Amino acid sequence: MRPLIRSACRLRARVRAMATLPAAAAFSPSSSAAARPPRLTLALFFLPSAPAPAALGARALRTSASAAAAAAVDVGGVKIAREDVVREEDPTNNVPDTIYSKIGLQLHRRDNHPLGILKNTIYDYFDKNFSGQFNKFDDLCPLVSVKQNFDDVLVPADHISRSYNDTYYVDAQTVLRCHTSAHQAELLRDGHTHFLVTGDVYRRDSIDSTHYPVFHQMEGFRVFSPDDWSGSGMDGTAYAAADLKKTLEGLARHLFGAVEMRWVDTYFPFTNPSFELEIYFQDDWLEVLGCGVTEQEILKSNGRTDHVAWAFGLGLERLAMVLFDIPDIRLFWSNDQRFTSQFSEGKLGVKFKPFSKFPPCYKDMSFWINEEFTENNLCEVVRGIAGDLVEEVKLIDNFTNKKGLTSHCYRIAYRSMERSLTDEEINDMQVDRCS
Ligand code: DAH
Repeated sequence: MRPLIRSACRLRARVRAMATLPAAAAFSPSSSAAARPPRLTLALFFLPSAPAPAALGARALRTSASAAAAAAVDVGGVKIAREDVVREEDPTNNVPDTIYSKIGLQLHRRDNHPLGILKNTIYDYFDKNFSGQFNKFDDLCPLVSVKQNFDDVLVPADHISRSYNDTYYVDAQTVLRCHTSAHQAELLRDGHTHFLVTGDVYRRDSIDSTHYPVFHQMEGFRVFSPDDWSGSGMDGTAYAAADLKKTLEGLARHLFGAVEMRWVDTYFPFTNPSFELEIYFQDDWLEVLGCGVTEQEILKSNGRTDHVAWAFGLGLERLAMVLFDIPDIRLFWSNDQRFTSQFSEGKLGVKFKPFSKFPPCYKDMSFWINEEFTENNLCEVVRGIAGDLVEEVKLIDNFTNKKGLTSHCYRIAYRSMERSLTDEEINDMQVDRCS
C-alpha cells in the first residue's frame, strides 16, 4: 500500500522541499550514458499542462491523450467530459490531460487484464467463503467530493494527503479520489453491510517503476451487529479484529499459497486498531494490504450506531506486479499485443515474459530550488512532456552553498517498452519544450 493515508510524519518525509528554477538551469557535468542535455528554463516547471512535444514517440502519446480527451467518457452511467475535469484557467484545478485520458479506461474491469484477473480471483474468495454476501462495486465514479475523500473517513484537516501537491483537485470541493475508502460512508448510508469496492485512484507522486499517478485499489468492508459477537466472550472490537485477521489470512493464502505471514501495527485515520498484513514471498517481506477496525464515529455518522465493522484496502498493481512478475507499472497501460496476449481470464500468476528490454536514455538536470519546489510538480511536468517514455526521475545530488541556496540534480531515465529510443529524439523533445 502506498503510504498516502498513513502517519503524517512518514508522509511528510516524502514531500521534498519546494523550488523554482533559475532562468537557465545548469546541467550537471555528471551526465551518464547520455549526451549532454540541453538547458531548461524556469517556465517549464510552472506550465499547468504541457502542449504536444516535438519528438515522434512523445507526440504520438500526447496525440492519443488528447484524442481520448475529446470525447466524454462514461463511468457507471456518469458522463465525464474533459472540461468537467481539466480547467487550465482555474487556479484550484491541477488535473492535466494525461490524467484525464486515463479516466474511464477501467483496467480492473477487463477480464483478460492482470488487474481484472486479480480482482476476479479476490471476488472468488469472498463468494466462496461468504456465500455471495459481499456486494461488489467496480464502476463508481472517480470524481468525489472533498468530504467523501477525506472528511467522511476522518482524515485530519491538516493531513498532508489533502494538499494540492498530493491530490488531483478538480475544484476546491472536488477531487479525483485518492483511495477507494472514499466510498465507505455512502455505501454504509445506503444500507450495505458487506461490500467490495474496486476502482482507479489518483495521486500526484514521484516517478519510478512502481509508482504511476493512476492505479487501482480494492476496499473491503464488513459490518457486525451485537448479535454477532454477544455469544463470543469478546467485545465487538476484539471480535471484528479476529474475524478481519482470519478473513485476510485466508485471502493471502488464496492468492499466494502457503506463505509465512505477519501482522504489523500501524495507523490509519479511519480504523483503530489498524494493521498491515505482510507475507514472506520471494525472499522478502511484502506488504499486502492495510486494514483495521472501523472508527465508531464513521459507523455512527452513517446509520450504524452500536455496530462494529472491519475494513481493508489493497493496491492491485502492487500485488499483480509480484504475482505476474510484471517489472514496470507502466506495462499495465500498454496495448502492445506482446503484453496483452500473455494474460487470460481466470489465470492468476502466469509469469510475464518480457518481450525485450530496450536501452534507457539518461539525462541529468540540475537547478536551484526555492521553498515552492516539489518533486511531484517536477514529475508532473516531465510526464506532461514525455508521457510514458519516462521511467524514473531520481534525485542524485542535493547541494546547499554558503549563501544557503540549494541546488538539486535529477537523473531522468527515459525508456520505451516498445522500441529503442535515440538520444537525438530525447534531446529534441527536451529542447523543443524547454528552450
Ligand atoms: N485507504 C488506505 C490508503 O489508500 C488503504 C486502507 C487502509 C483502506 C486501511 C482501509 C483500511 O479500508 O482499513 O492508503
